[in-house]
Order: sequence, then C-alpha cells, then structure tokens
Amino acid sequence: MTKTYNIAVVPGDGTGPEVVAEGIKVLNAVASKCDFSLDFSEHNIGGEQYLASGDILTESNIESLAAADAIYLGAIGHPDVKPGILEKGILLKLRFEFDQYINLRPVKLYEGVDTPLKDKGPDDIDYVVVRENTEGIYTGAGGSFKYGTPDEVAIQESINTRKGVERCIRFAFEYCRKRNKARKLTLCGKTNVLTYAFDLWERTFHEVAEEYPDIETDYAHVDAICMWMVKNPEWFDVIVTDNMFGDIISDLAAMIQGGMGIAAGANINPEKVSMFEPIGGSAPKYTGQQKINPLAGILAAGIMMETIGESTAAAYIDAAVAKVLREDLKDLAAGKMGYTTAEVGDLLVEHIESAK
Ligand code: IPM
Ligand code: MG
Repeated sequence: MTKTYNIAVVPGDGTGPEVVAEGIKVLNAVASKCDFSLDFSEHNIGGEQYLASGDILTESNIESLAAADAIYLGAIGHPDVKPGILEKGILLKLRFEFDQYINLRPVKLYEGVDTPLKDKGPDDIDYVVVRENTEGIYTGAGGSFKYGTPDEVAIQESINTRKGVERCIRFAFEYCRKRNKARKLTLCGKTNVLTYAFDLWERTFHEVAEEYPDIETDYAHVDAICMWMVKNPEWFDVIVTDNMFGDIISDLAAMIQGGMGIAAGANINPEKVSMFEPIGGSAPKYTGQQKINPLAGILAAGIMMETIGESTAAAYIDAAVAKVLREDLKDLAAGKMGYTTAEVGDLLVEHIESAK
C-alpha cells in the first residue's frame, strides 16, 4: 500500500496562493515519482478572511491543522490590516500553539544565482540558521504604563527557559551531525550585553557540546555574525541563535543567497505538526500577476519532504530547483524571471519527471 500524507494548505494572503499552487504541483510530481501520495486540504485563513468575518484563527482551524501531517503556508499579511494583528494572530499563534520550537532556515547559494557578496560563490555560501521559535522577545511578555503620556513606559521582555534553550541547541547539534558538512556549530548571541539571557544560552551550549565531541563549536556576537556573514560566509556551517537574532540574521542571509524569492523556512516541532513557508511576505503589489518567484515556497516544500521522512523526494526537488536556476531563470526577482510563476512550476515538474 502506498503511504498517504495529509497536508494542510494555508495559501493565505497576497501572492501566497500563487506560490503554494506551484508548490503543490511540484509536490504531486515528486510524490508520484517516489510512490507515495499526498492529500491536500485547503484552509481559509488570512487577512481577507479576517476582514470578512472578524475571525483570525478559530479553534476549529487549529484542530484541523493539528490533525495534518504537515502545514504548507503561503503568506500572511494584508495592506488593510494594521501590522501586528495577523502576524501575532496567525503566524506566531500557530508557531506557539503547535510548539514549533525550531525555525530552520537553510542558506545556500545555487549555481547561476547572483549574490551581492563580491568574489563569493556557491562553495562559500552554504549554511543553516537554526532559530529558536517559541521564546525570546516573541512571547509578547511586557506591557505599557501611562500609555500616550510623557511618562510612558514600554517594557518588552525576553523570555529564555532552560528547556527551550536546551531543546533548540540540542536540535542544532543533531542537525549539524546529520548534515555532516563542516560539522561546526556556531552560537550567535550577545553575551557582552544580554548577560542573563545569553549566559543561559552559553552555559547550555557548552554543556550540550560535551555530548557532541565530533562537532566543532564556535561563538560570535550577533553584530559580529552580521559582519562575518558578509565578509567570510564560508566560516559558517550551522548557526544556532535566539528568536529575535535569528529573525534578523536570516533576512541578511536571504539576501546573500539571492533574495526573498529563494529563501525558505520551516517551523519544526519534531514530535508534532510542523509548518513550512517561504520567508518572504505576501507582496501585495504583485498579487495575481503571476510575477512572483515561487522557488522559496517550493524549497519550503522540499524541507517538508525531508522533515516527514521523504528524503528522496526532497532531493528531487532540490535537484530540479538547482537545474531551473542553472539553465532557465534569467533573474530571481519578481517579474524578471523570464517566466510566469506557473511556468516556473511547470519547468520544475518537467525536470522532476525527466530526472533519473
Ligand atoms: C519571519 C517574519 C515573522 C517573524 C514576522 C512576520 C512576525 O519576519 O518569519 O521571519 O518575525 O518571525
Ligand atoms: Mg523575519
């Protein structure tokens, strides 16, 4: 009997639906190639739905997503909704609700893709950011006092628990070992200023490291990491860091690997349901125009295959993306690819079908 996976699809806002449509095409192509099947269910969650009904994310949404083997997300964000509402009410809520404590962001420069870094190529840019995804400044702890007055106080607290920090660091060590590249894990922190939070991170890092004598360890402050990511990206293999720093350095990394059109991420709970998404937003100005680059969403689908245990399918997706970048696409930017969004999906399907 062939195996079937239930994939909950949240196309979301803006260009999200156009992107996930291509991801689904590609997923179906690898499923038939690898002899398993995918059952997609679509979930209407996002800015449009919120504006129409006032509901952001209902209990029944959460229940049905929880029952899936994986969640495939397009984009969340709507120009008519105040910033923060959808991000907190949907994206962050799902990450927290499903305790997706890892945000995995591979950074790889494919052949044929331009990087803004002078004299650096695919051999130099190939690392992974492991971002803690449920704690830090993102918990929403804090508050305002004397709001709107000259005496206003605004507090935003960073929450770091031993459990949260340790499971993230442990995942990073395991991932680094499994990836088996340079076998080097760099902790990105700010031990010189955040002397409580990163003291916990650093102590935990060294303690866990003792269980991984085969992995080289390194430490750099987040500001220095930004510098080295530009100057010597070849120094990195796997980087582990907290939620906020991970958010920031992964956008820098996205530009280094060729832009938002190719930056994919995964929100992982190794024991429960994980969620896969392109890092970029909903790009309202390109909505419905078939200009958006679907590759980030397709690479996210590839990480999904890897995470659910279909690594051959993941390898087909990666090889097809590499081929399309080497041979077909003129540019990664929206509207400059030389193909429509759907044509890029079609090319990938052709490459997958003709692959050995
Ligand atoms: C990301 C995004 C989100 C984050 C926003 C939209 C809340 O920037 O996935 O990196 O900060 O995590
Ligand atoms: Mg971000």
